[in-house]
This record gives sequence, structure tokens and C-alpha cells, in this order.
Amino acid sequence: MSTLRLDDLKQYSDSLRTRHGEPLTLRFVEPRDTEELQHYFRSLSTRSRYNRFFGAISELPKGLLHDFLQIGDRERFSVVATMMVDGFETIVGEVRYAFHAETSTVEFGLSVDDRWQGHGIGSALLKNLECRAAAFGAEHLYGDTLRSNETMISLAGKSGFAFINHPDDWKLVRFDKQIATAPKEIPCASWRLAALSRQAASPSASA
Ligand SMILES: CC(C)(COP(=O)(O)OP(=O)(O)OC[C@H]1O[C@@H](n2cnc3c(N)ncnc32)[C@H](O)[C@@H]1OP(=O)(O)O)[C@@H](O)C(=O)NCCC(=O)NCCS
Repeated sequence: MSTLRLDDLKQYSDSLRTRHGEPLTLRFVEPRDTEELQHYFRSLSTRSRYNRFFGAISELPKGLLHDFLQIGDRERFSVVATMMVDGFETIVGEVRYAFHAETSTVEFGLSVDDRWQGHGIGSALLKNLECRAAAFGAEHLYGDTLRSNETMISLAGKSGFAFINHPDDWKLVRFDKQIATAPKEIPCASWRLAALSRQAASPSASA
């Protein structure tokens, strides 16, 4: 069950702003992004990549890069945050999320380019993810992070997530937020529309 028009992904682009008001576009990854996405991950600091993938990698392994580009496959989605830098659309952040229908949850991981960390981009991405989770009718939004990742733990705490132990790995902590937004109250226009059309197609669906 996909709630999205996968043949027309451009309609799901969101316009956000950094803390200082710089415009930020959030859109699904497209095939034309392949090289720049890999460049983005290579350019992250070793520490940011380690925090993002819980291991030492220098770039996205081929299989994972392929998966990143398959939007909607098994309800998994990759999103890039882009800004105009020196006249070029530049990737400054990314989010990958998956809708698990069986548990009514959305799971995610994200990163922001080291040069742009601390500008409120992570906070904006989390708010936007709440809209996306609500559009699926998900009841919870969650992610995992290393216990040593104080930045992510602080960001999640400030964004209203609660913390629980990871079920399988003591080195990780899980942050989780309950989503209880009715479709017509979703604060992102494109996701409100997606939720309302999902509701219209399946009136018995909750939230
Ligand atoms: C975690 C991450 C996504 C945060 O993104 P960001 O754009 O820098 O976050 P924001 O600017 O929105 O900051 C939000 C909060 O995070 C915390 N924070 C940001 N930078 C911090 C730092 N250097 N040290 C400690 N806390 C920090 C603060 O609480 C901040 O709130 P404040 O600005 O009101 O003080 C980013 O640091 C990152 O990409 N890290 C590497 C990858 C990663 O750790 N991913 C998480 C695994 S799921």
C-alpha cells in the first residue's frame, strides 16, 4: 500500500528554512543525484559518517547506494535537503525512512553536512518527518543512535522524542515520538494532501 503518487514525486517537494532563514528544499532523491549523493557522503567527516551508519565506511557501498535510489520500494524513501550554494543546488542533508505497516511506525536515519550543522537543518528535517509519518497514518516515528552521539540525543530530546533501550544492541539508544496528528491538521501542505487522499481512498483507515 503506497500512499504516494510514485510517478510524480516532484509534487512532494517541501520548502523549509534554516534557523537563519536560508531557503532549503526537501525532495525525494532522483537518479540524477547519484554522483552528488555519493560525493555528499564522502565529504562528511569520519565522525559524522560513523554516527550515521554506526560503522567506519568511506562512502555508500554499491548495494546501499542502489537502495537509496529506489524511492518507494518496500515503503522505503530517501530524501535530500538542498540549498543553492554559489549558484548550484547542493545537497546539505539527507534522510532515509521506512514505513512499517505491521507496527504502524516510521523508522529513520539522517545526516547534515558538517559545514551546515548547527543551522537548525536537523530540527527542520525532524519536523518535516513528523508530517511524512502522519501522512502514512503511522502512530510512532523512531530512530536509533549511538549512545555516544550527544548531538543526536540532544536534537531528539528537544524535538520531543522519548528514549528507550534498543531491543538488541546496548550501544544504541532508540528515540521515539508518538504521532497523533489528524490528516487535516498536518502542518505541511503536501503531506496533508497525501494524507487526505489516502483517507479518501480508504475511509476506514485511522488518523
Ligand atoms: C545529528 C545531526 C543530524 C543534527 O543536525 P543539525 O542540523 O546540526 O541540528 P540542529 O542545528 O537542528 O541542532 C538541533 C540541536 O542539536 C543539538 N546540537 C547541535 N549541534 C550540537 C553539538 N555540536 N553538540 C551538542 N549538541 C548539538 C542542540 O541541542 C541543537 O539545539 P540548539 O541549536 O537549540 O542548541 C547532525 O549533527 C549530523 O548530521 N550528525 C552526523 C550524523 C548523525 O549523527 N546522524 C544521527 C543518526 S540517526
